[in-house]
Amino acid sequence: MAKRKLSQYDDLATFENVIQPNLDELKEDYSLKGKWAKEYFNNDHPIILELGCGKGEYTISLAKHFPQNNFIGIDRKGARLWAGSVNAQRHSLKNAAFLRFDISFISKVFGPGEIAEIWITFPDPQPKNRQIKKRLTNPQFLRMYHALLEDGGLMHLKTDNLPFHDYTLEIIQGEGHELLMCTQDLYHSGLADPLLSIKTHYEKKFLVQGIPITYLKFKLCYP
Ligand SMILES: C[S@@+](CC[C@H](N)C(=O)[O-])C[C@H]1O[C@@H](n2cnc3c(N)ncnc32)[C@H](O)[C@@H]1O
Repeated sequence: MAKRKLSQYDDLATFENVIQPNLDELKEDYSLKGKWAKEYFNNDHPIILELGCGKGEYTISLAKHFPQNNFIGIDRKGARLWAGSVNAQRHSLKNAAFLRFDISFISKVFGPGEIAEIWITFPDPQPKNRQIKKRLTNPQFLRMYHALLEDGGLMHLKTDNLPFHDYTLEIIQGEGHELLMCTQDLYHSGLADPLLSIKTHYEKKFLVQGIPITYLKFKLCYP
């Protein structure tokens, strides 16, 4: 492994704003499950997640915009989280943290109703049929998110990948969730307010290539 990555992994273990539950800890409910606001952030503010956050551009920008909320970026890749963590430290953000684990364990990490909103930013498209179970908006993941979200909790999805957007839209419509916003071309839709215009590392790359960015905002509703 490259020296730089190894030294970033060493750093991660010392960063106060990075938590890395290990697999043994995730076999059981994680110790902070249901207690993130009170015991980690020392407040009772709402918690907003960014799933597959990479370098955490949404986590950091939203944390700056909304000091009265707590933000947690989640990714399994340490080097990307390192960049987000350093950026948050540089801006002295006390309301932003990063968690390193595989999102399939999310129900072990957060408690019922503990989360106010979830952003999914440029998820890996997992285009093959055999990869459907890895798509972060497949019905199994949506069920898990629903259990963690407070009543009326919002879901946001930004992607450059039209098939992924359409796949998610079909599930929203097929399962009867509430669609609040939908565009196949955010920056030519008139919807791109300052929050929706936050640009992630991947988003910037796609925009340079002239790829339209799509956006979905929805509420999960099950009978
Ligand atoms: C295409 S990148 C996007 C990163 C960032 N959101 C951006 O827009 O720049 C997708 C990210 O999702 C993360 N990811 C995908 N599946 C994951 C999973 N099951 N658990 C944790 N992270 C995951 C990857 O490690 C990667 O950093």
